[in-house]
Amino acid sequence: MVAVLEIVSFLEAEGHAAAAAAVRAKYASAKGLGIETRLVQSYAPMKDPYGSANMPIYQTATFAQESASEFGAYDYTRSGNPTRSALEKAVAEAEGCARCLAFSTGMAALAAVTRLAKSGDQILLSDDSYGGTYRLLDKVCASMGISTKYVAMDGPEGPARLGAAMTSKTSLVMVESPTNPMQRVCDLRGLAAVCKEHGALLEVDNTLMSPLLQKPLELGADVVVHSATKFICGHSDTMAGVVCVNDPTLGDRLYFSQNAEGTGLAPLDAWLALRGLKTMALRVEKAQANAAILADWLSSHPKVTNVFYATRDDHPDHALHATQATGGGCVVSFVTGDQALSKHVVTATTLFHITVSFGSVHSLISCPCDMSHASIPAEVRASRDFPEDIVRVCVGIEDPSDLVADLEQAFASYEAGKEYS
Ligand SMILES: Cc1ncc(COP(=O)(O)O)c(C=O)c1O
Repeated sequence: MVAVLEIVSFLEAEGHAAAAAAVRAKYASAKGLGIETRLVQSYAPMKDPYGSANMPIYQTATFAQESASEFGAYDYTRSGNPTRSALEKAVAEAEGCARCLAFSTGMAALAAVTRLAKSGDQILLSDDSYGGTYRLLDKVCASMGISTKYVAMDGPEGPARLGAAMTSKTSLVMVESPTNPMQRVCDLRGLAAVCKEHGALLEVDNTLMSPLLQKPLELGADVVVHSATKFICGHSDTMAGVVCVNDPTLGDRLYFSQNAEGTGLAPLDAWLALRGLKTMALRVEKAQANAAILADWLSSHPKVTNVFYATRDDHPDHALHATQATGGGCVVSFVTGDQALSKHVVTATTLFHITVSFGSVHSLISCPCDMSHASIPAEVRASRDFPEDIVRVCVGIEDPSDLVADLEQAFASYEAGKEYS
């Protein structure tokens, strides 16, 4: 461990803050084990009578008590379940936080976070956020007397713009970095400092980065959310969401909403998420390597007018991203300047599933304006410079040469002027 600390000090002294943070995070565990090692630990219960190598699925609604006055650790699955607890412990370990709560979906997790605001409060949301988050705040929170203001929080000026938008009613700030699909990067340390100064909580939706590539709690955030449907589960076969915090009071408040509203993750889904976690490091590494290959190939394609990927040198905030994350993840977006061509490419690929979501073993492709971001009205998208011809590629773990060849044939089969549905 001493050697590791020496490496960290050296990297910091040489100005390699992101690399130092990555080494520190990797060896942060008390045992000094790397994250890949910790993720494959099986989380089997120590007292399992049969020595099960994996956490069993406690598929039960109720737990019998010893007597009328002696109670065990669990009584009712809405309030707590050992399989869900095992997942929460494992994600807390991966994210490096004091407490994690697992929800039925990412949206249920985000909804629980909005319960931290009360009627009359204001939430500030990054103006380039997931469509579902926009809908939650614009429709559900608004009906509960919580107003939302949209702020461009990306880039080096983001913290100043956030500071200018703060009012005495702002209790919660919600942000993603990089954003999806535009890959706009927010200065998470700077935003956290502004939130602290104004007594507001900062929530970071870290889904795009996974718990492996960025640790917003270490950068000053109060709450981290993941749609665990993505990298954590990893196979497009189940849905889940997690909320991670360090402050015990916040953890208790979130648990209160989860129990009161019955939004906790079901045992079978918790088990699937636990299984996904064990291979998450391998999947993220491979999908990210494939994404970088596709981003380079797309940027050299004559019909592609711009590529959005946060670790590319041509990304305006790639240097900022490198100070807070250790990779670009698996989502690459591009524009062609021709909506018909973009739609054709999406439809003509054969290996990419045309679907929303990302972080799966499969590669996926979509036109966000028609799919994941359709809940944001077209005029709002336009006001936020969200291109209608944008294509989002969510890269999986396939052979990258097959993916490139598939995109190549999709571009090549386009005939300008022809009617495409
Ligand atoms: C960034 C982000 N946050 C939250 C969600 C919502 O998660 P879920 O679909 O698991 O409810 C999504 C879904 O695509 C997402 O992309």
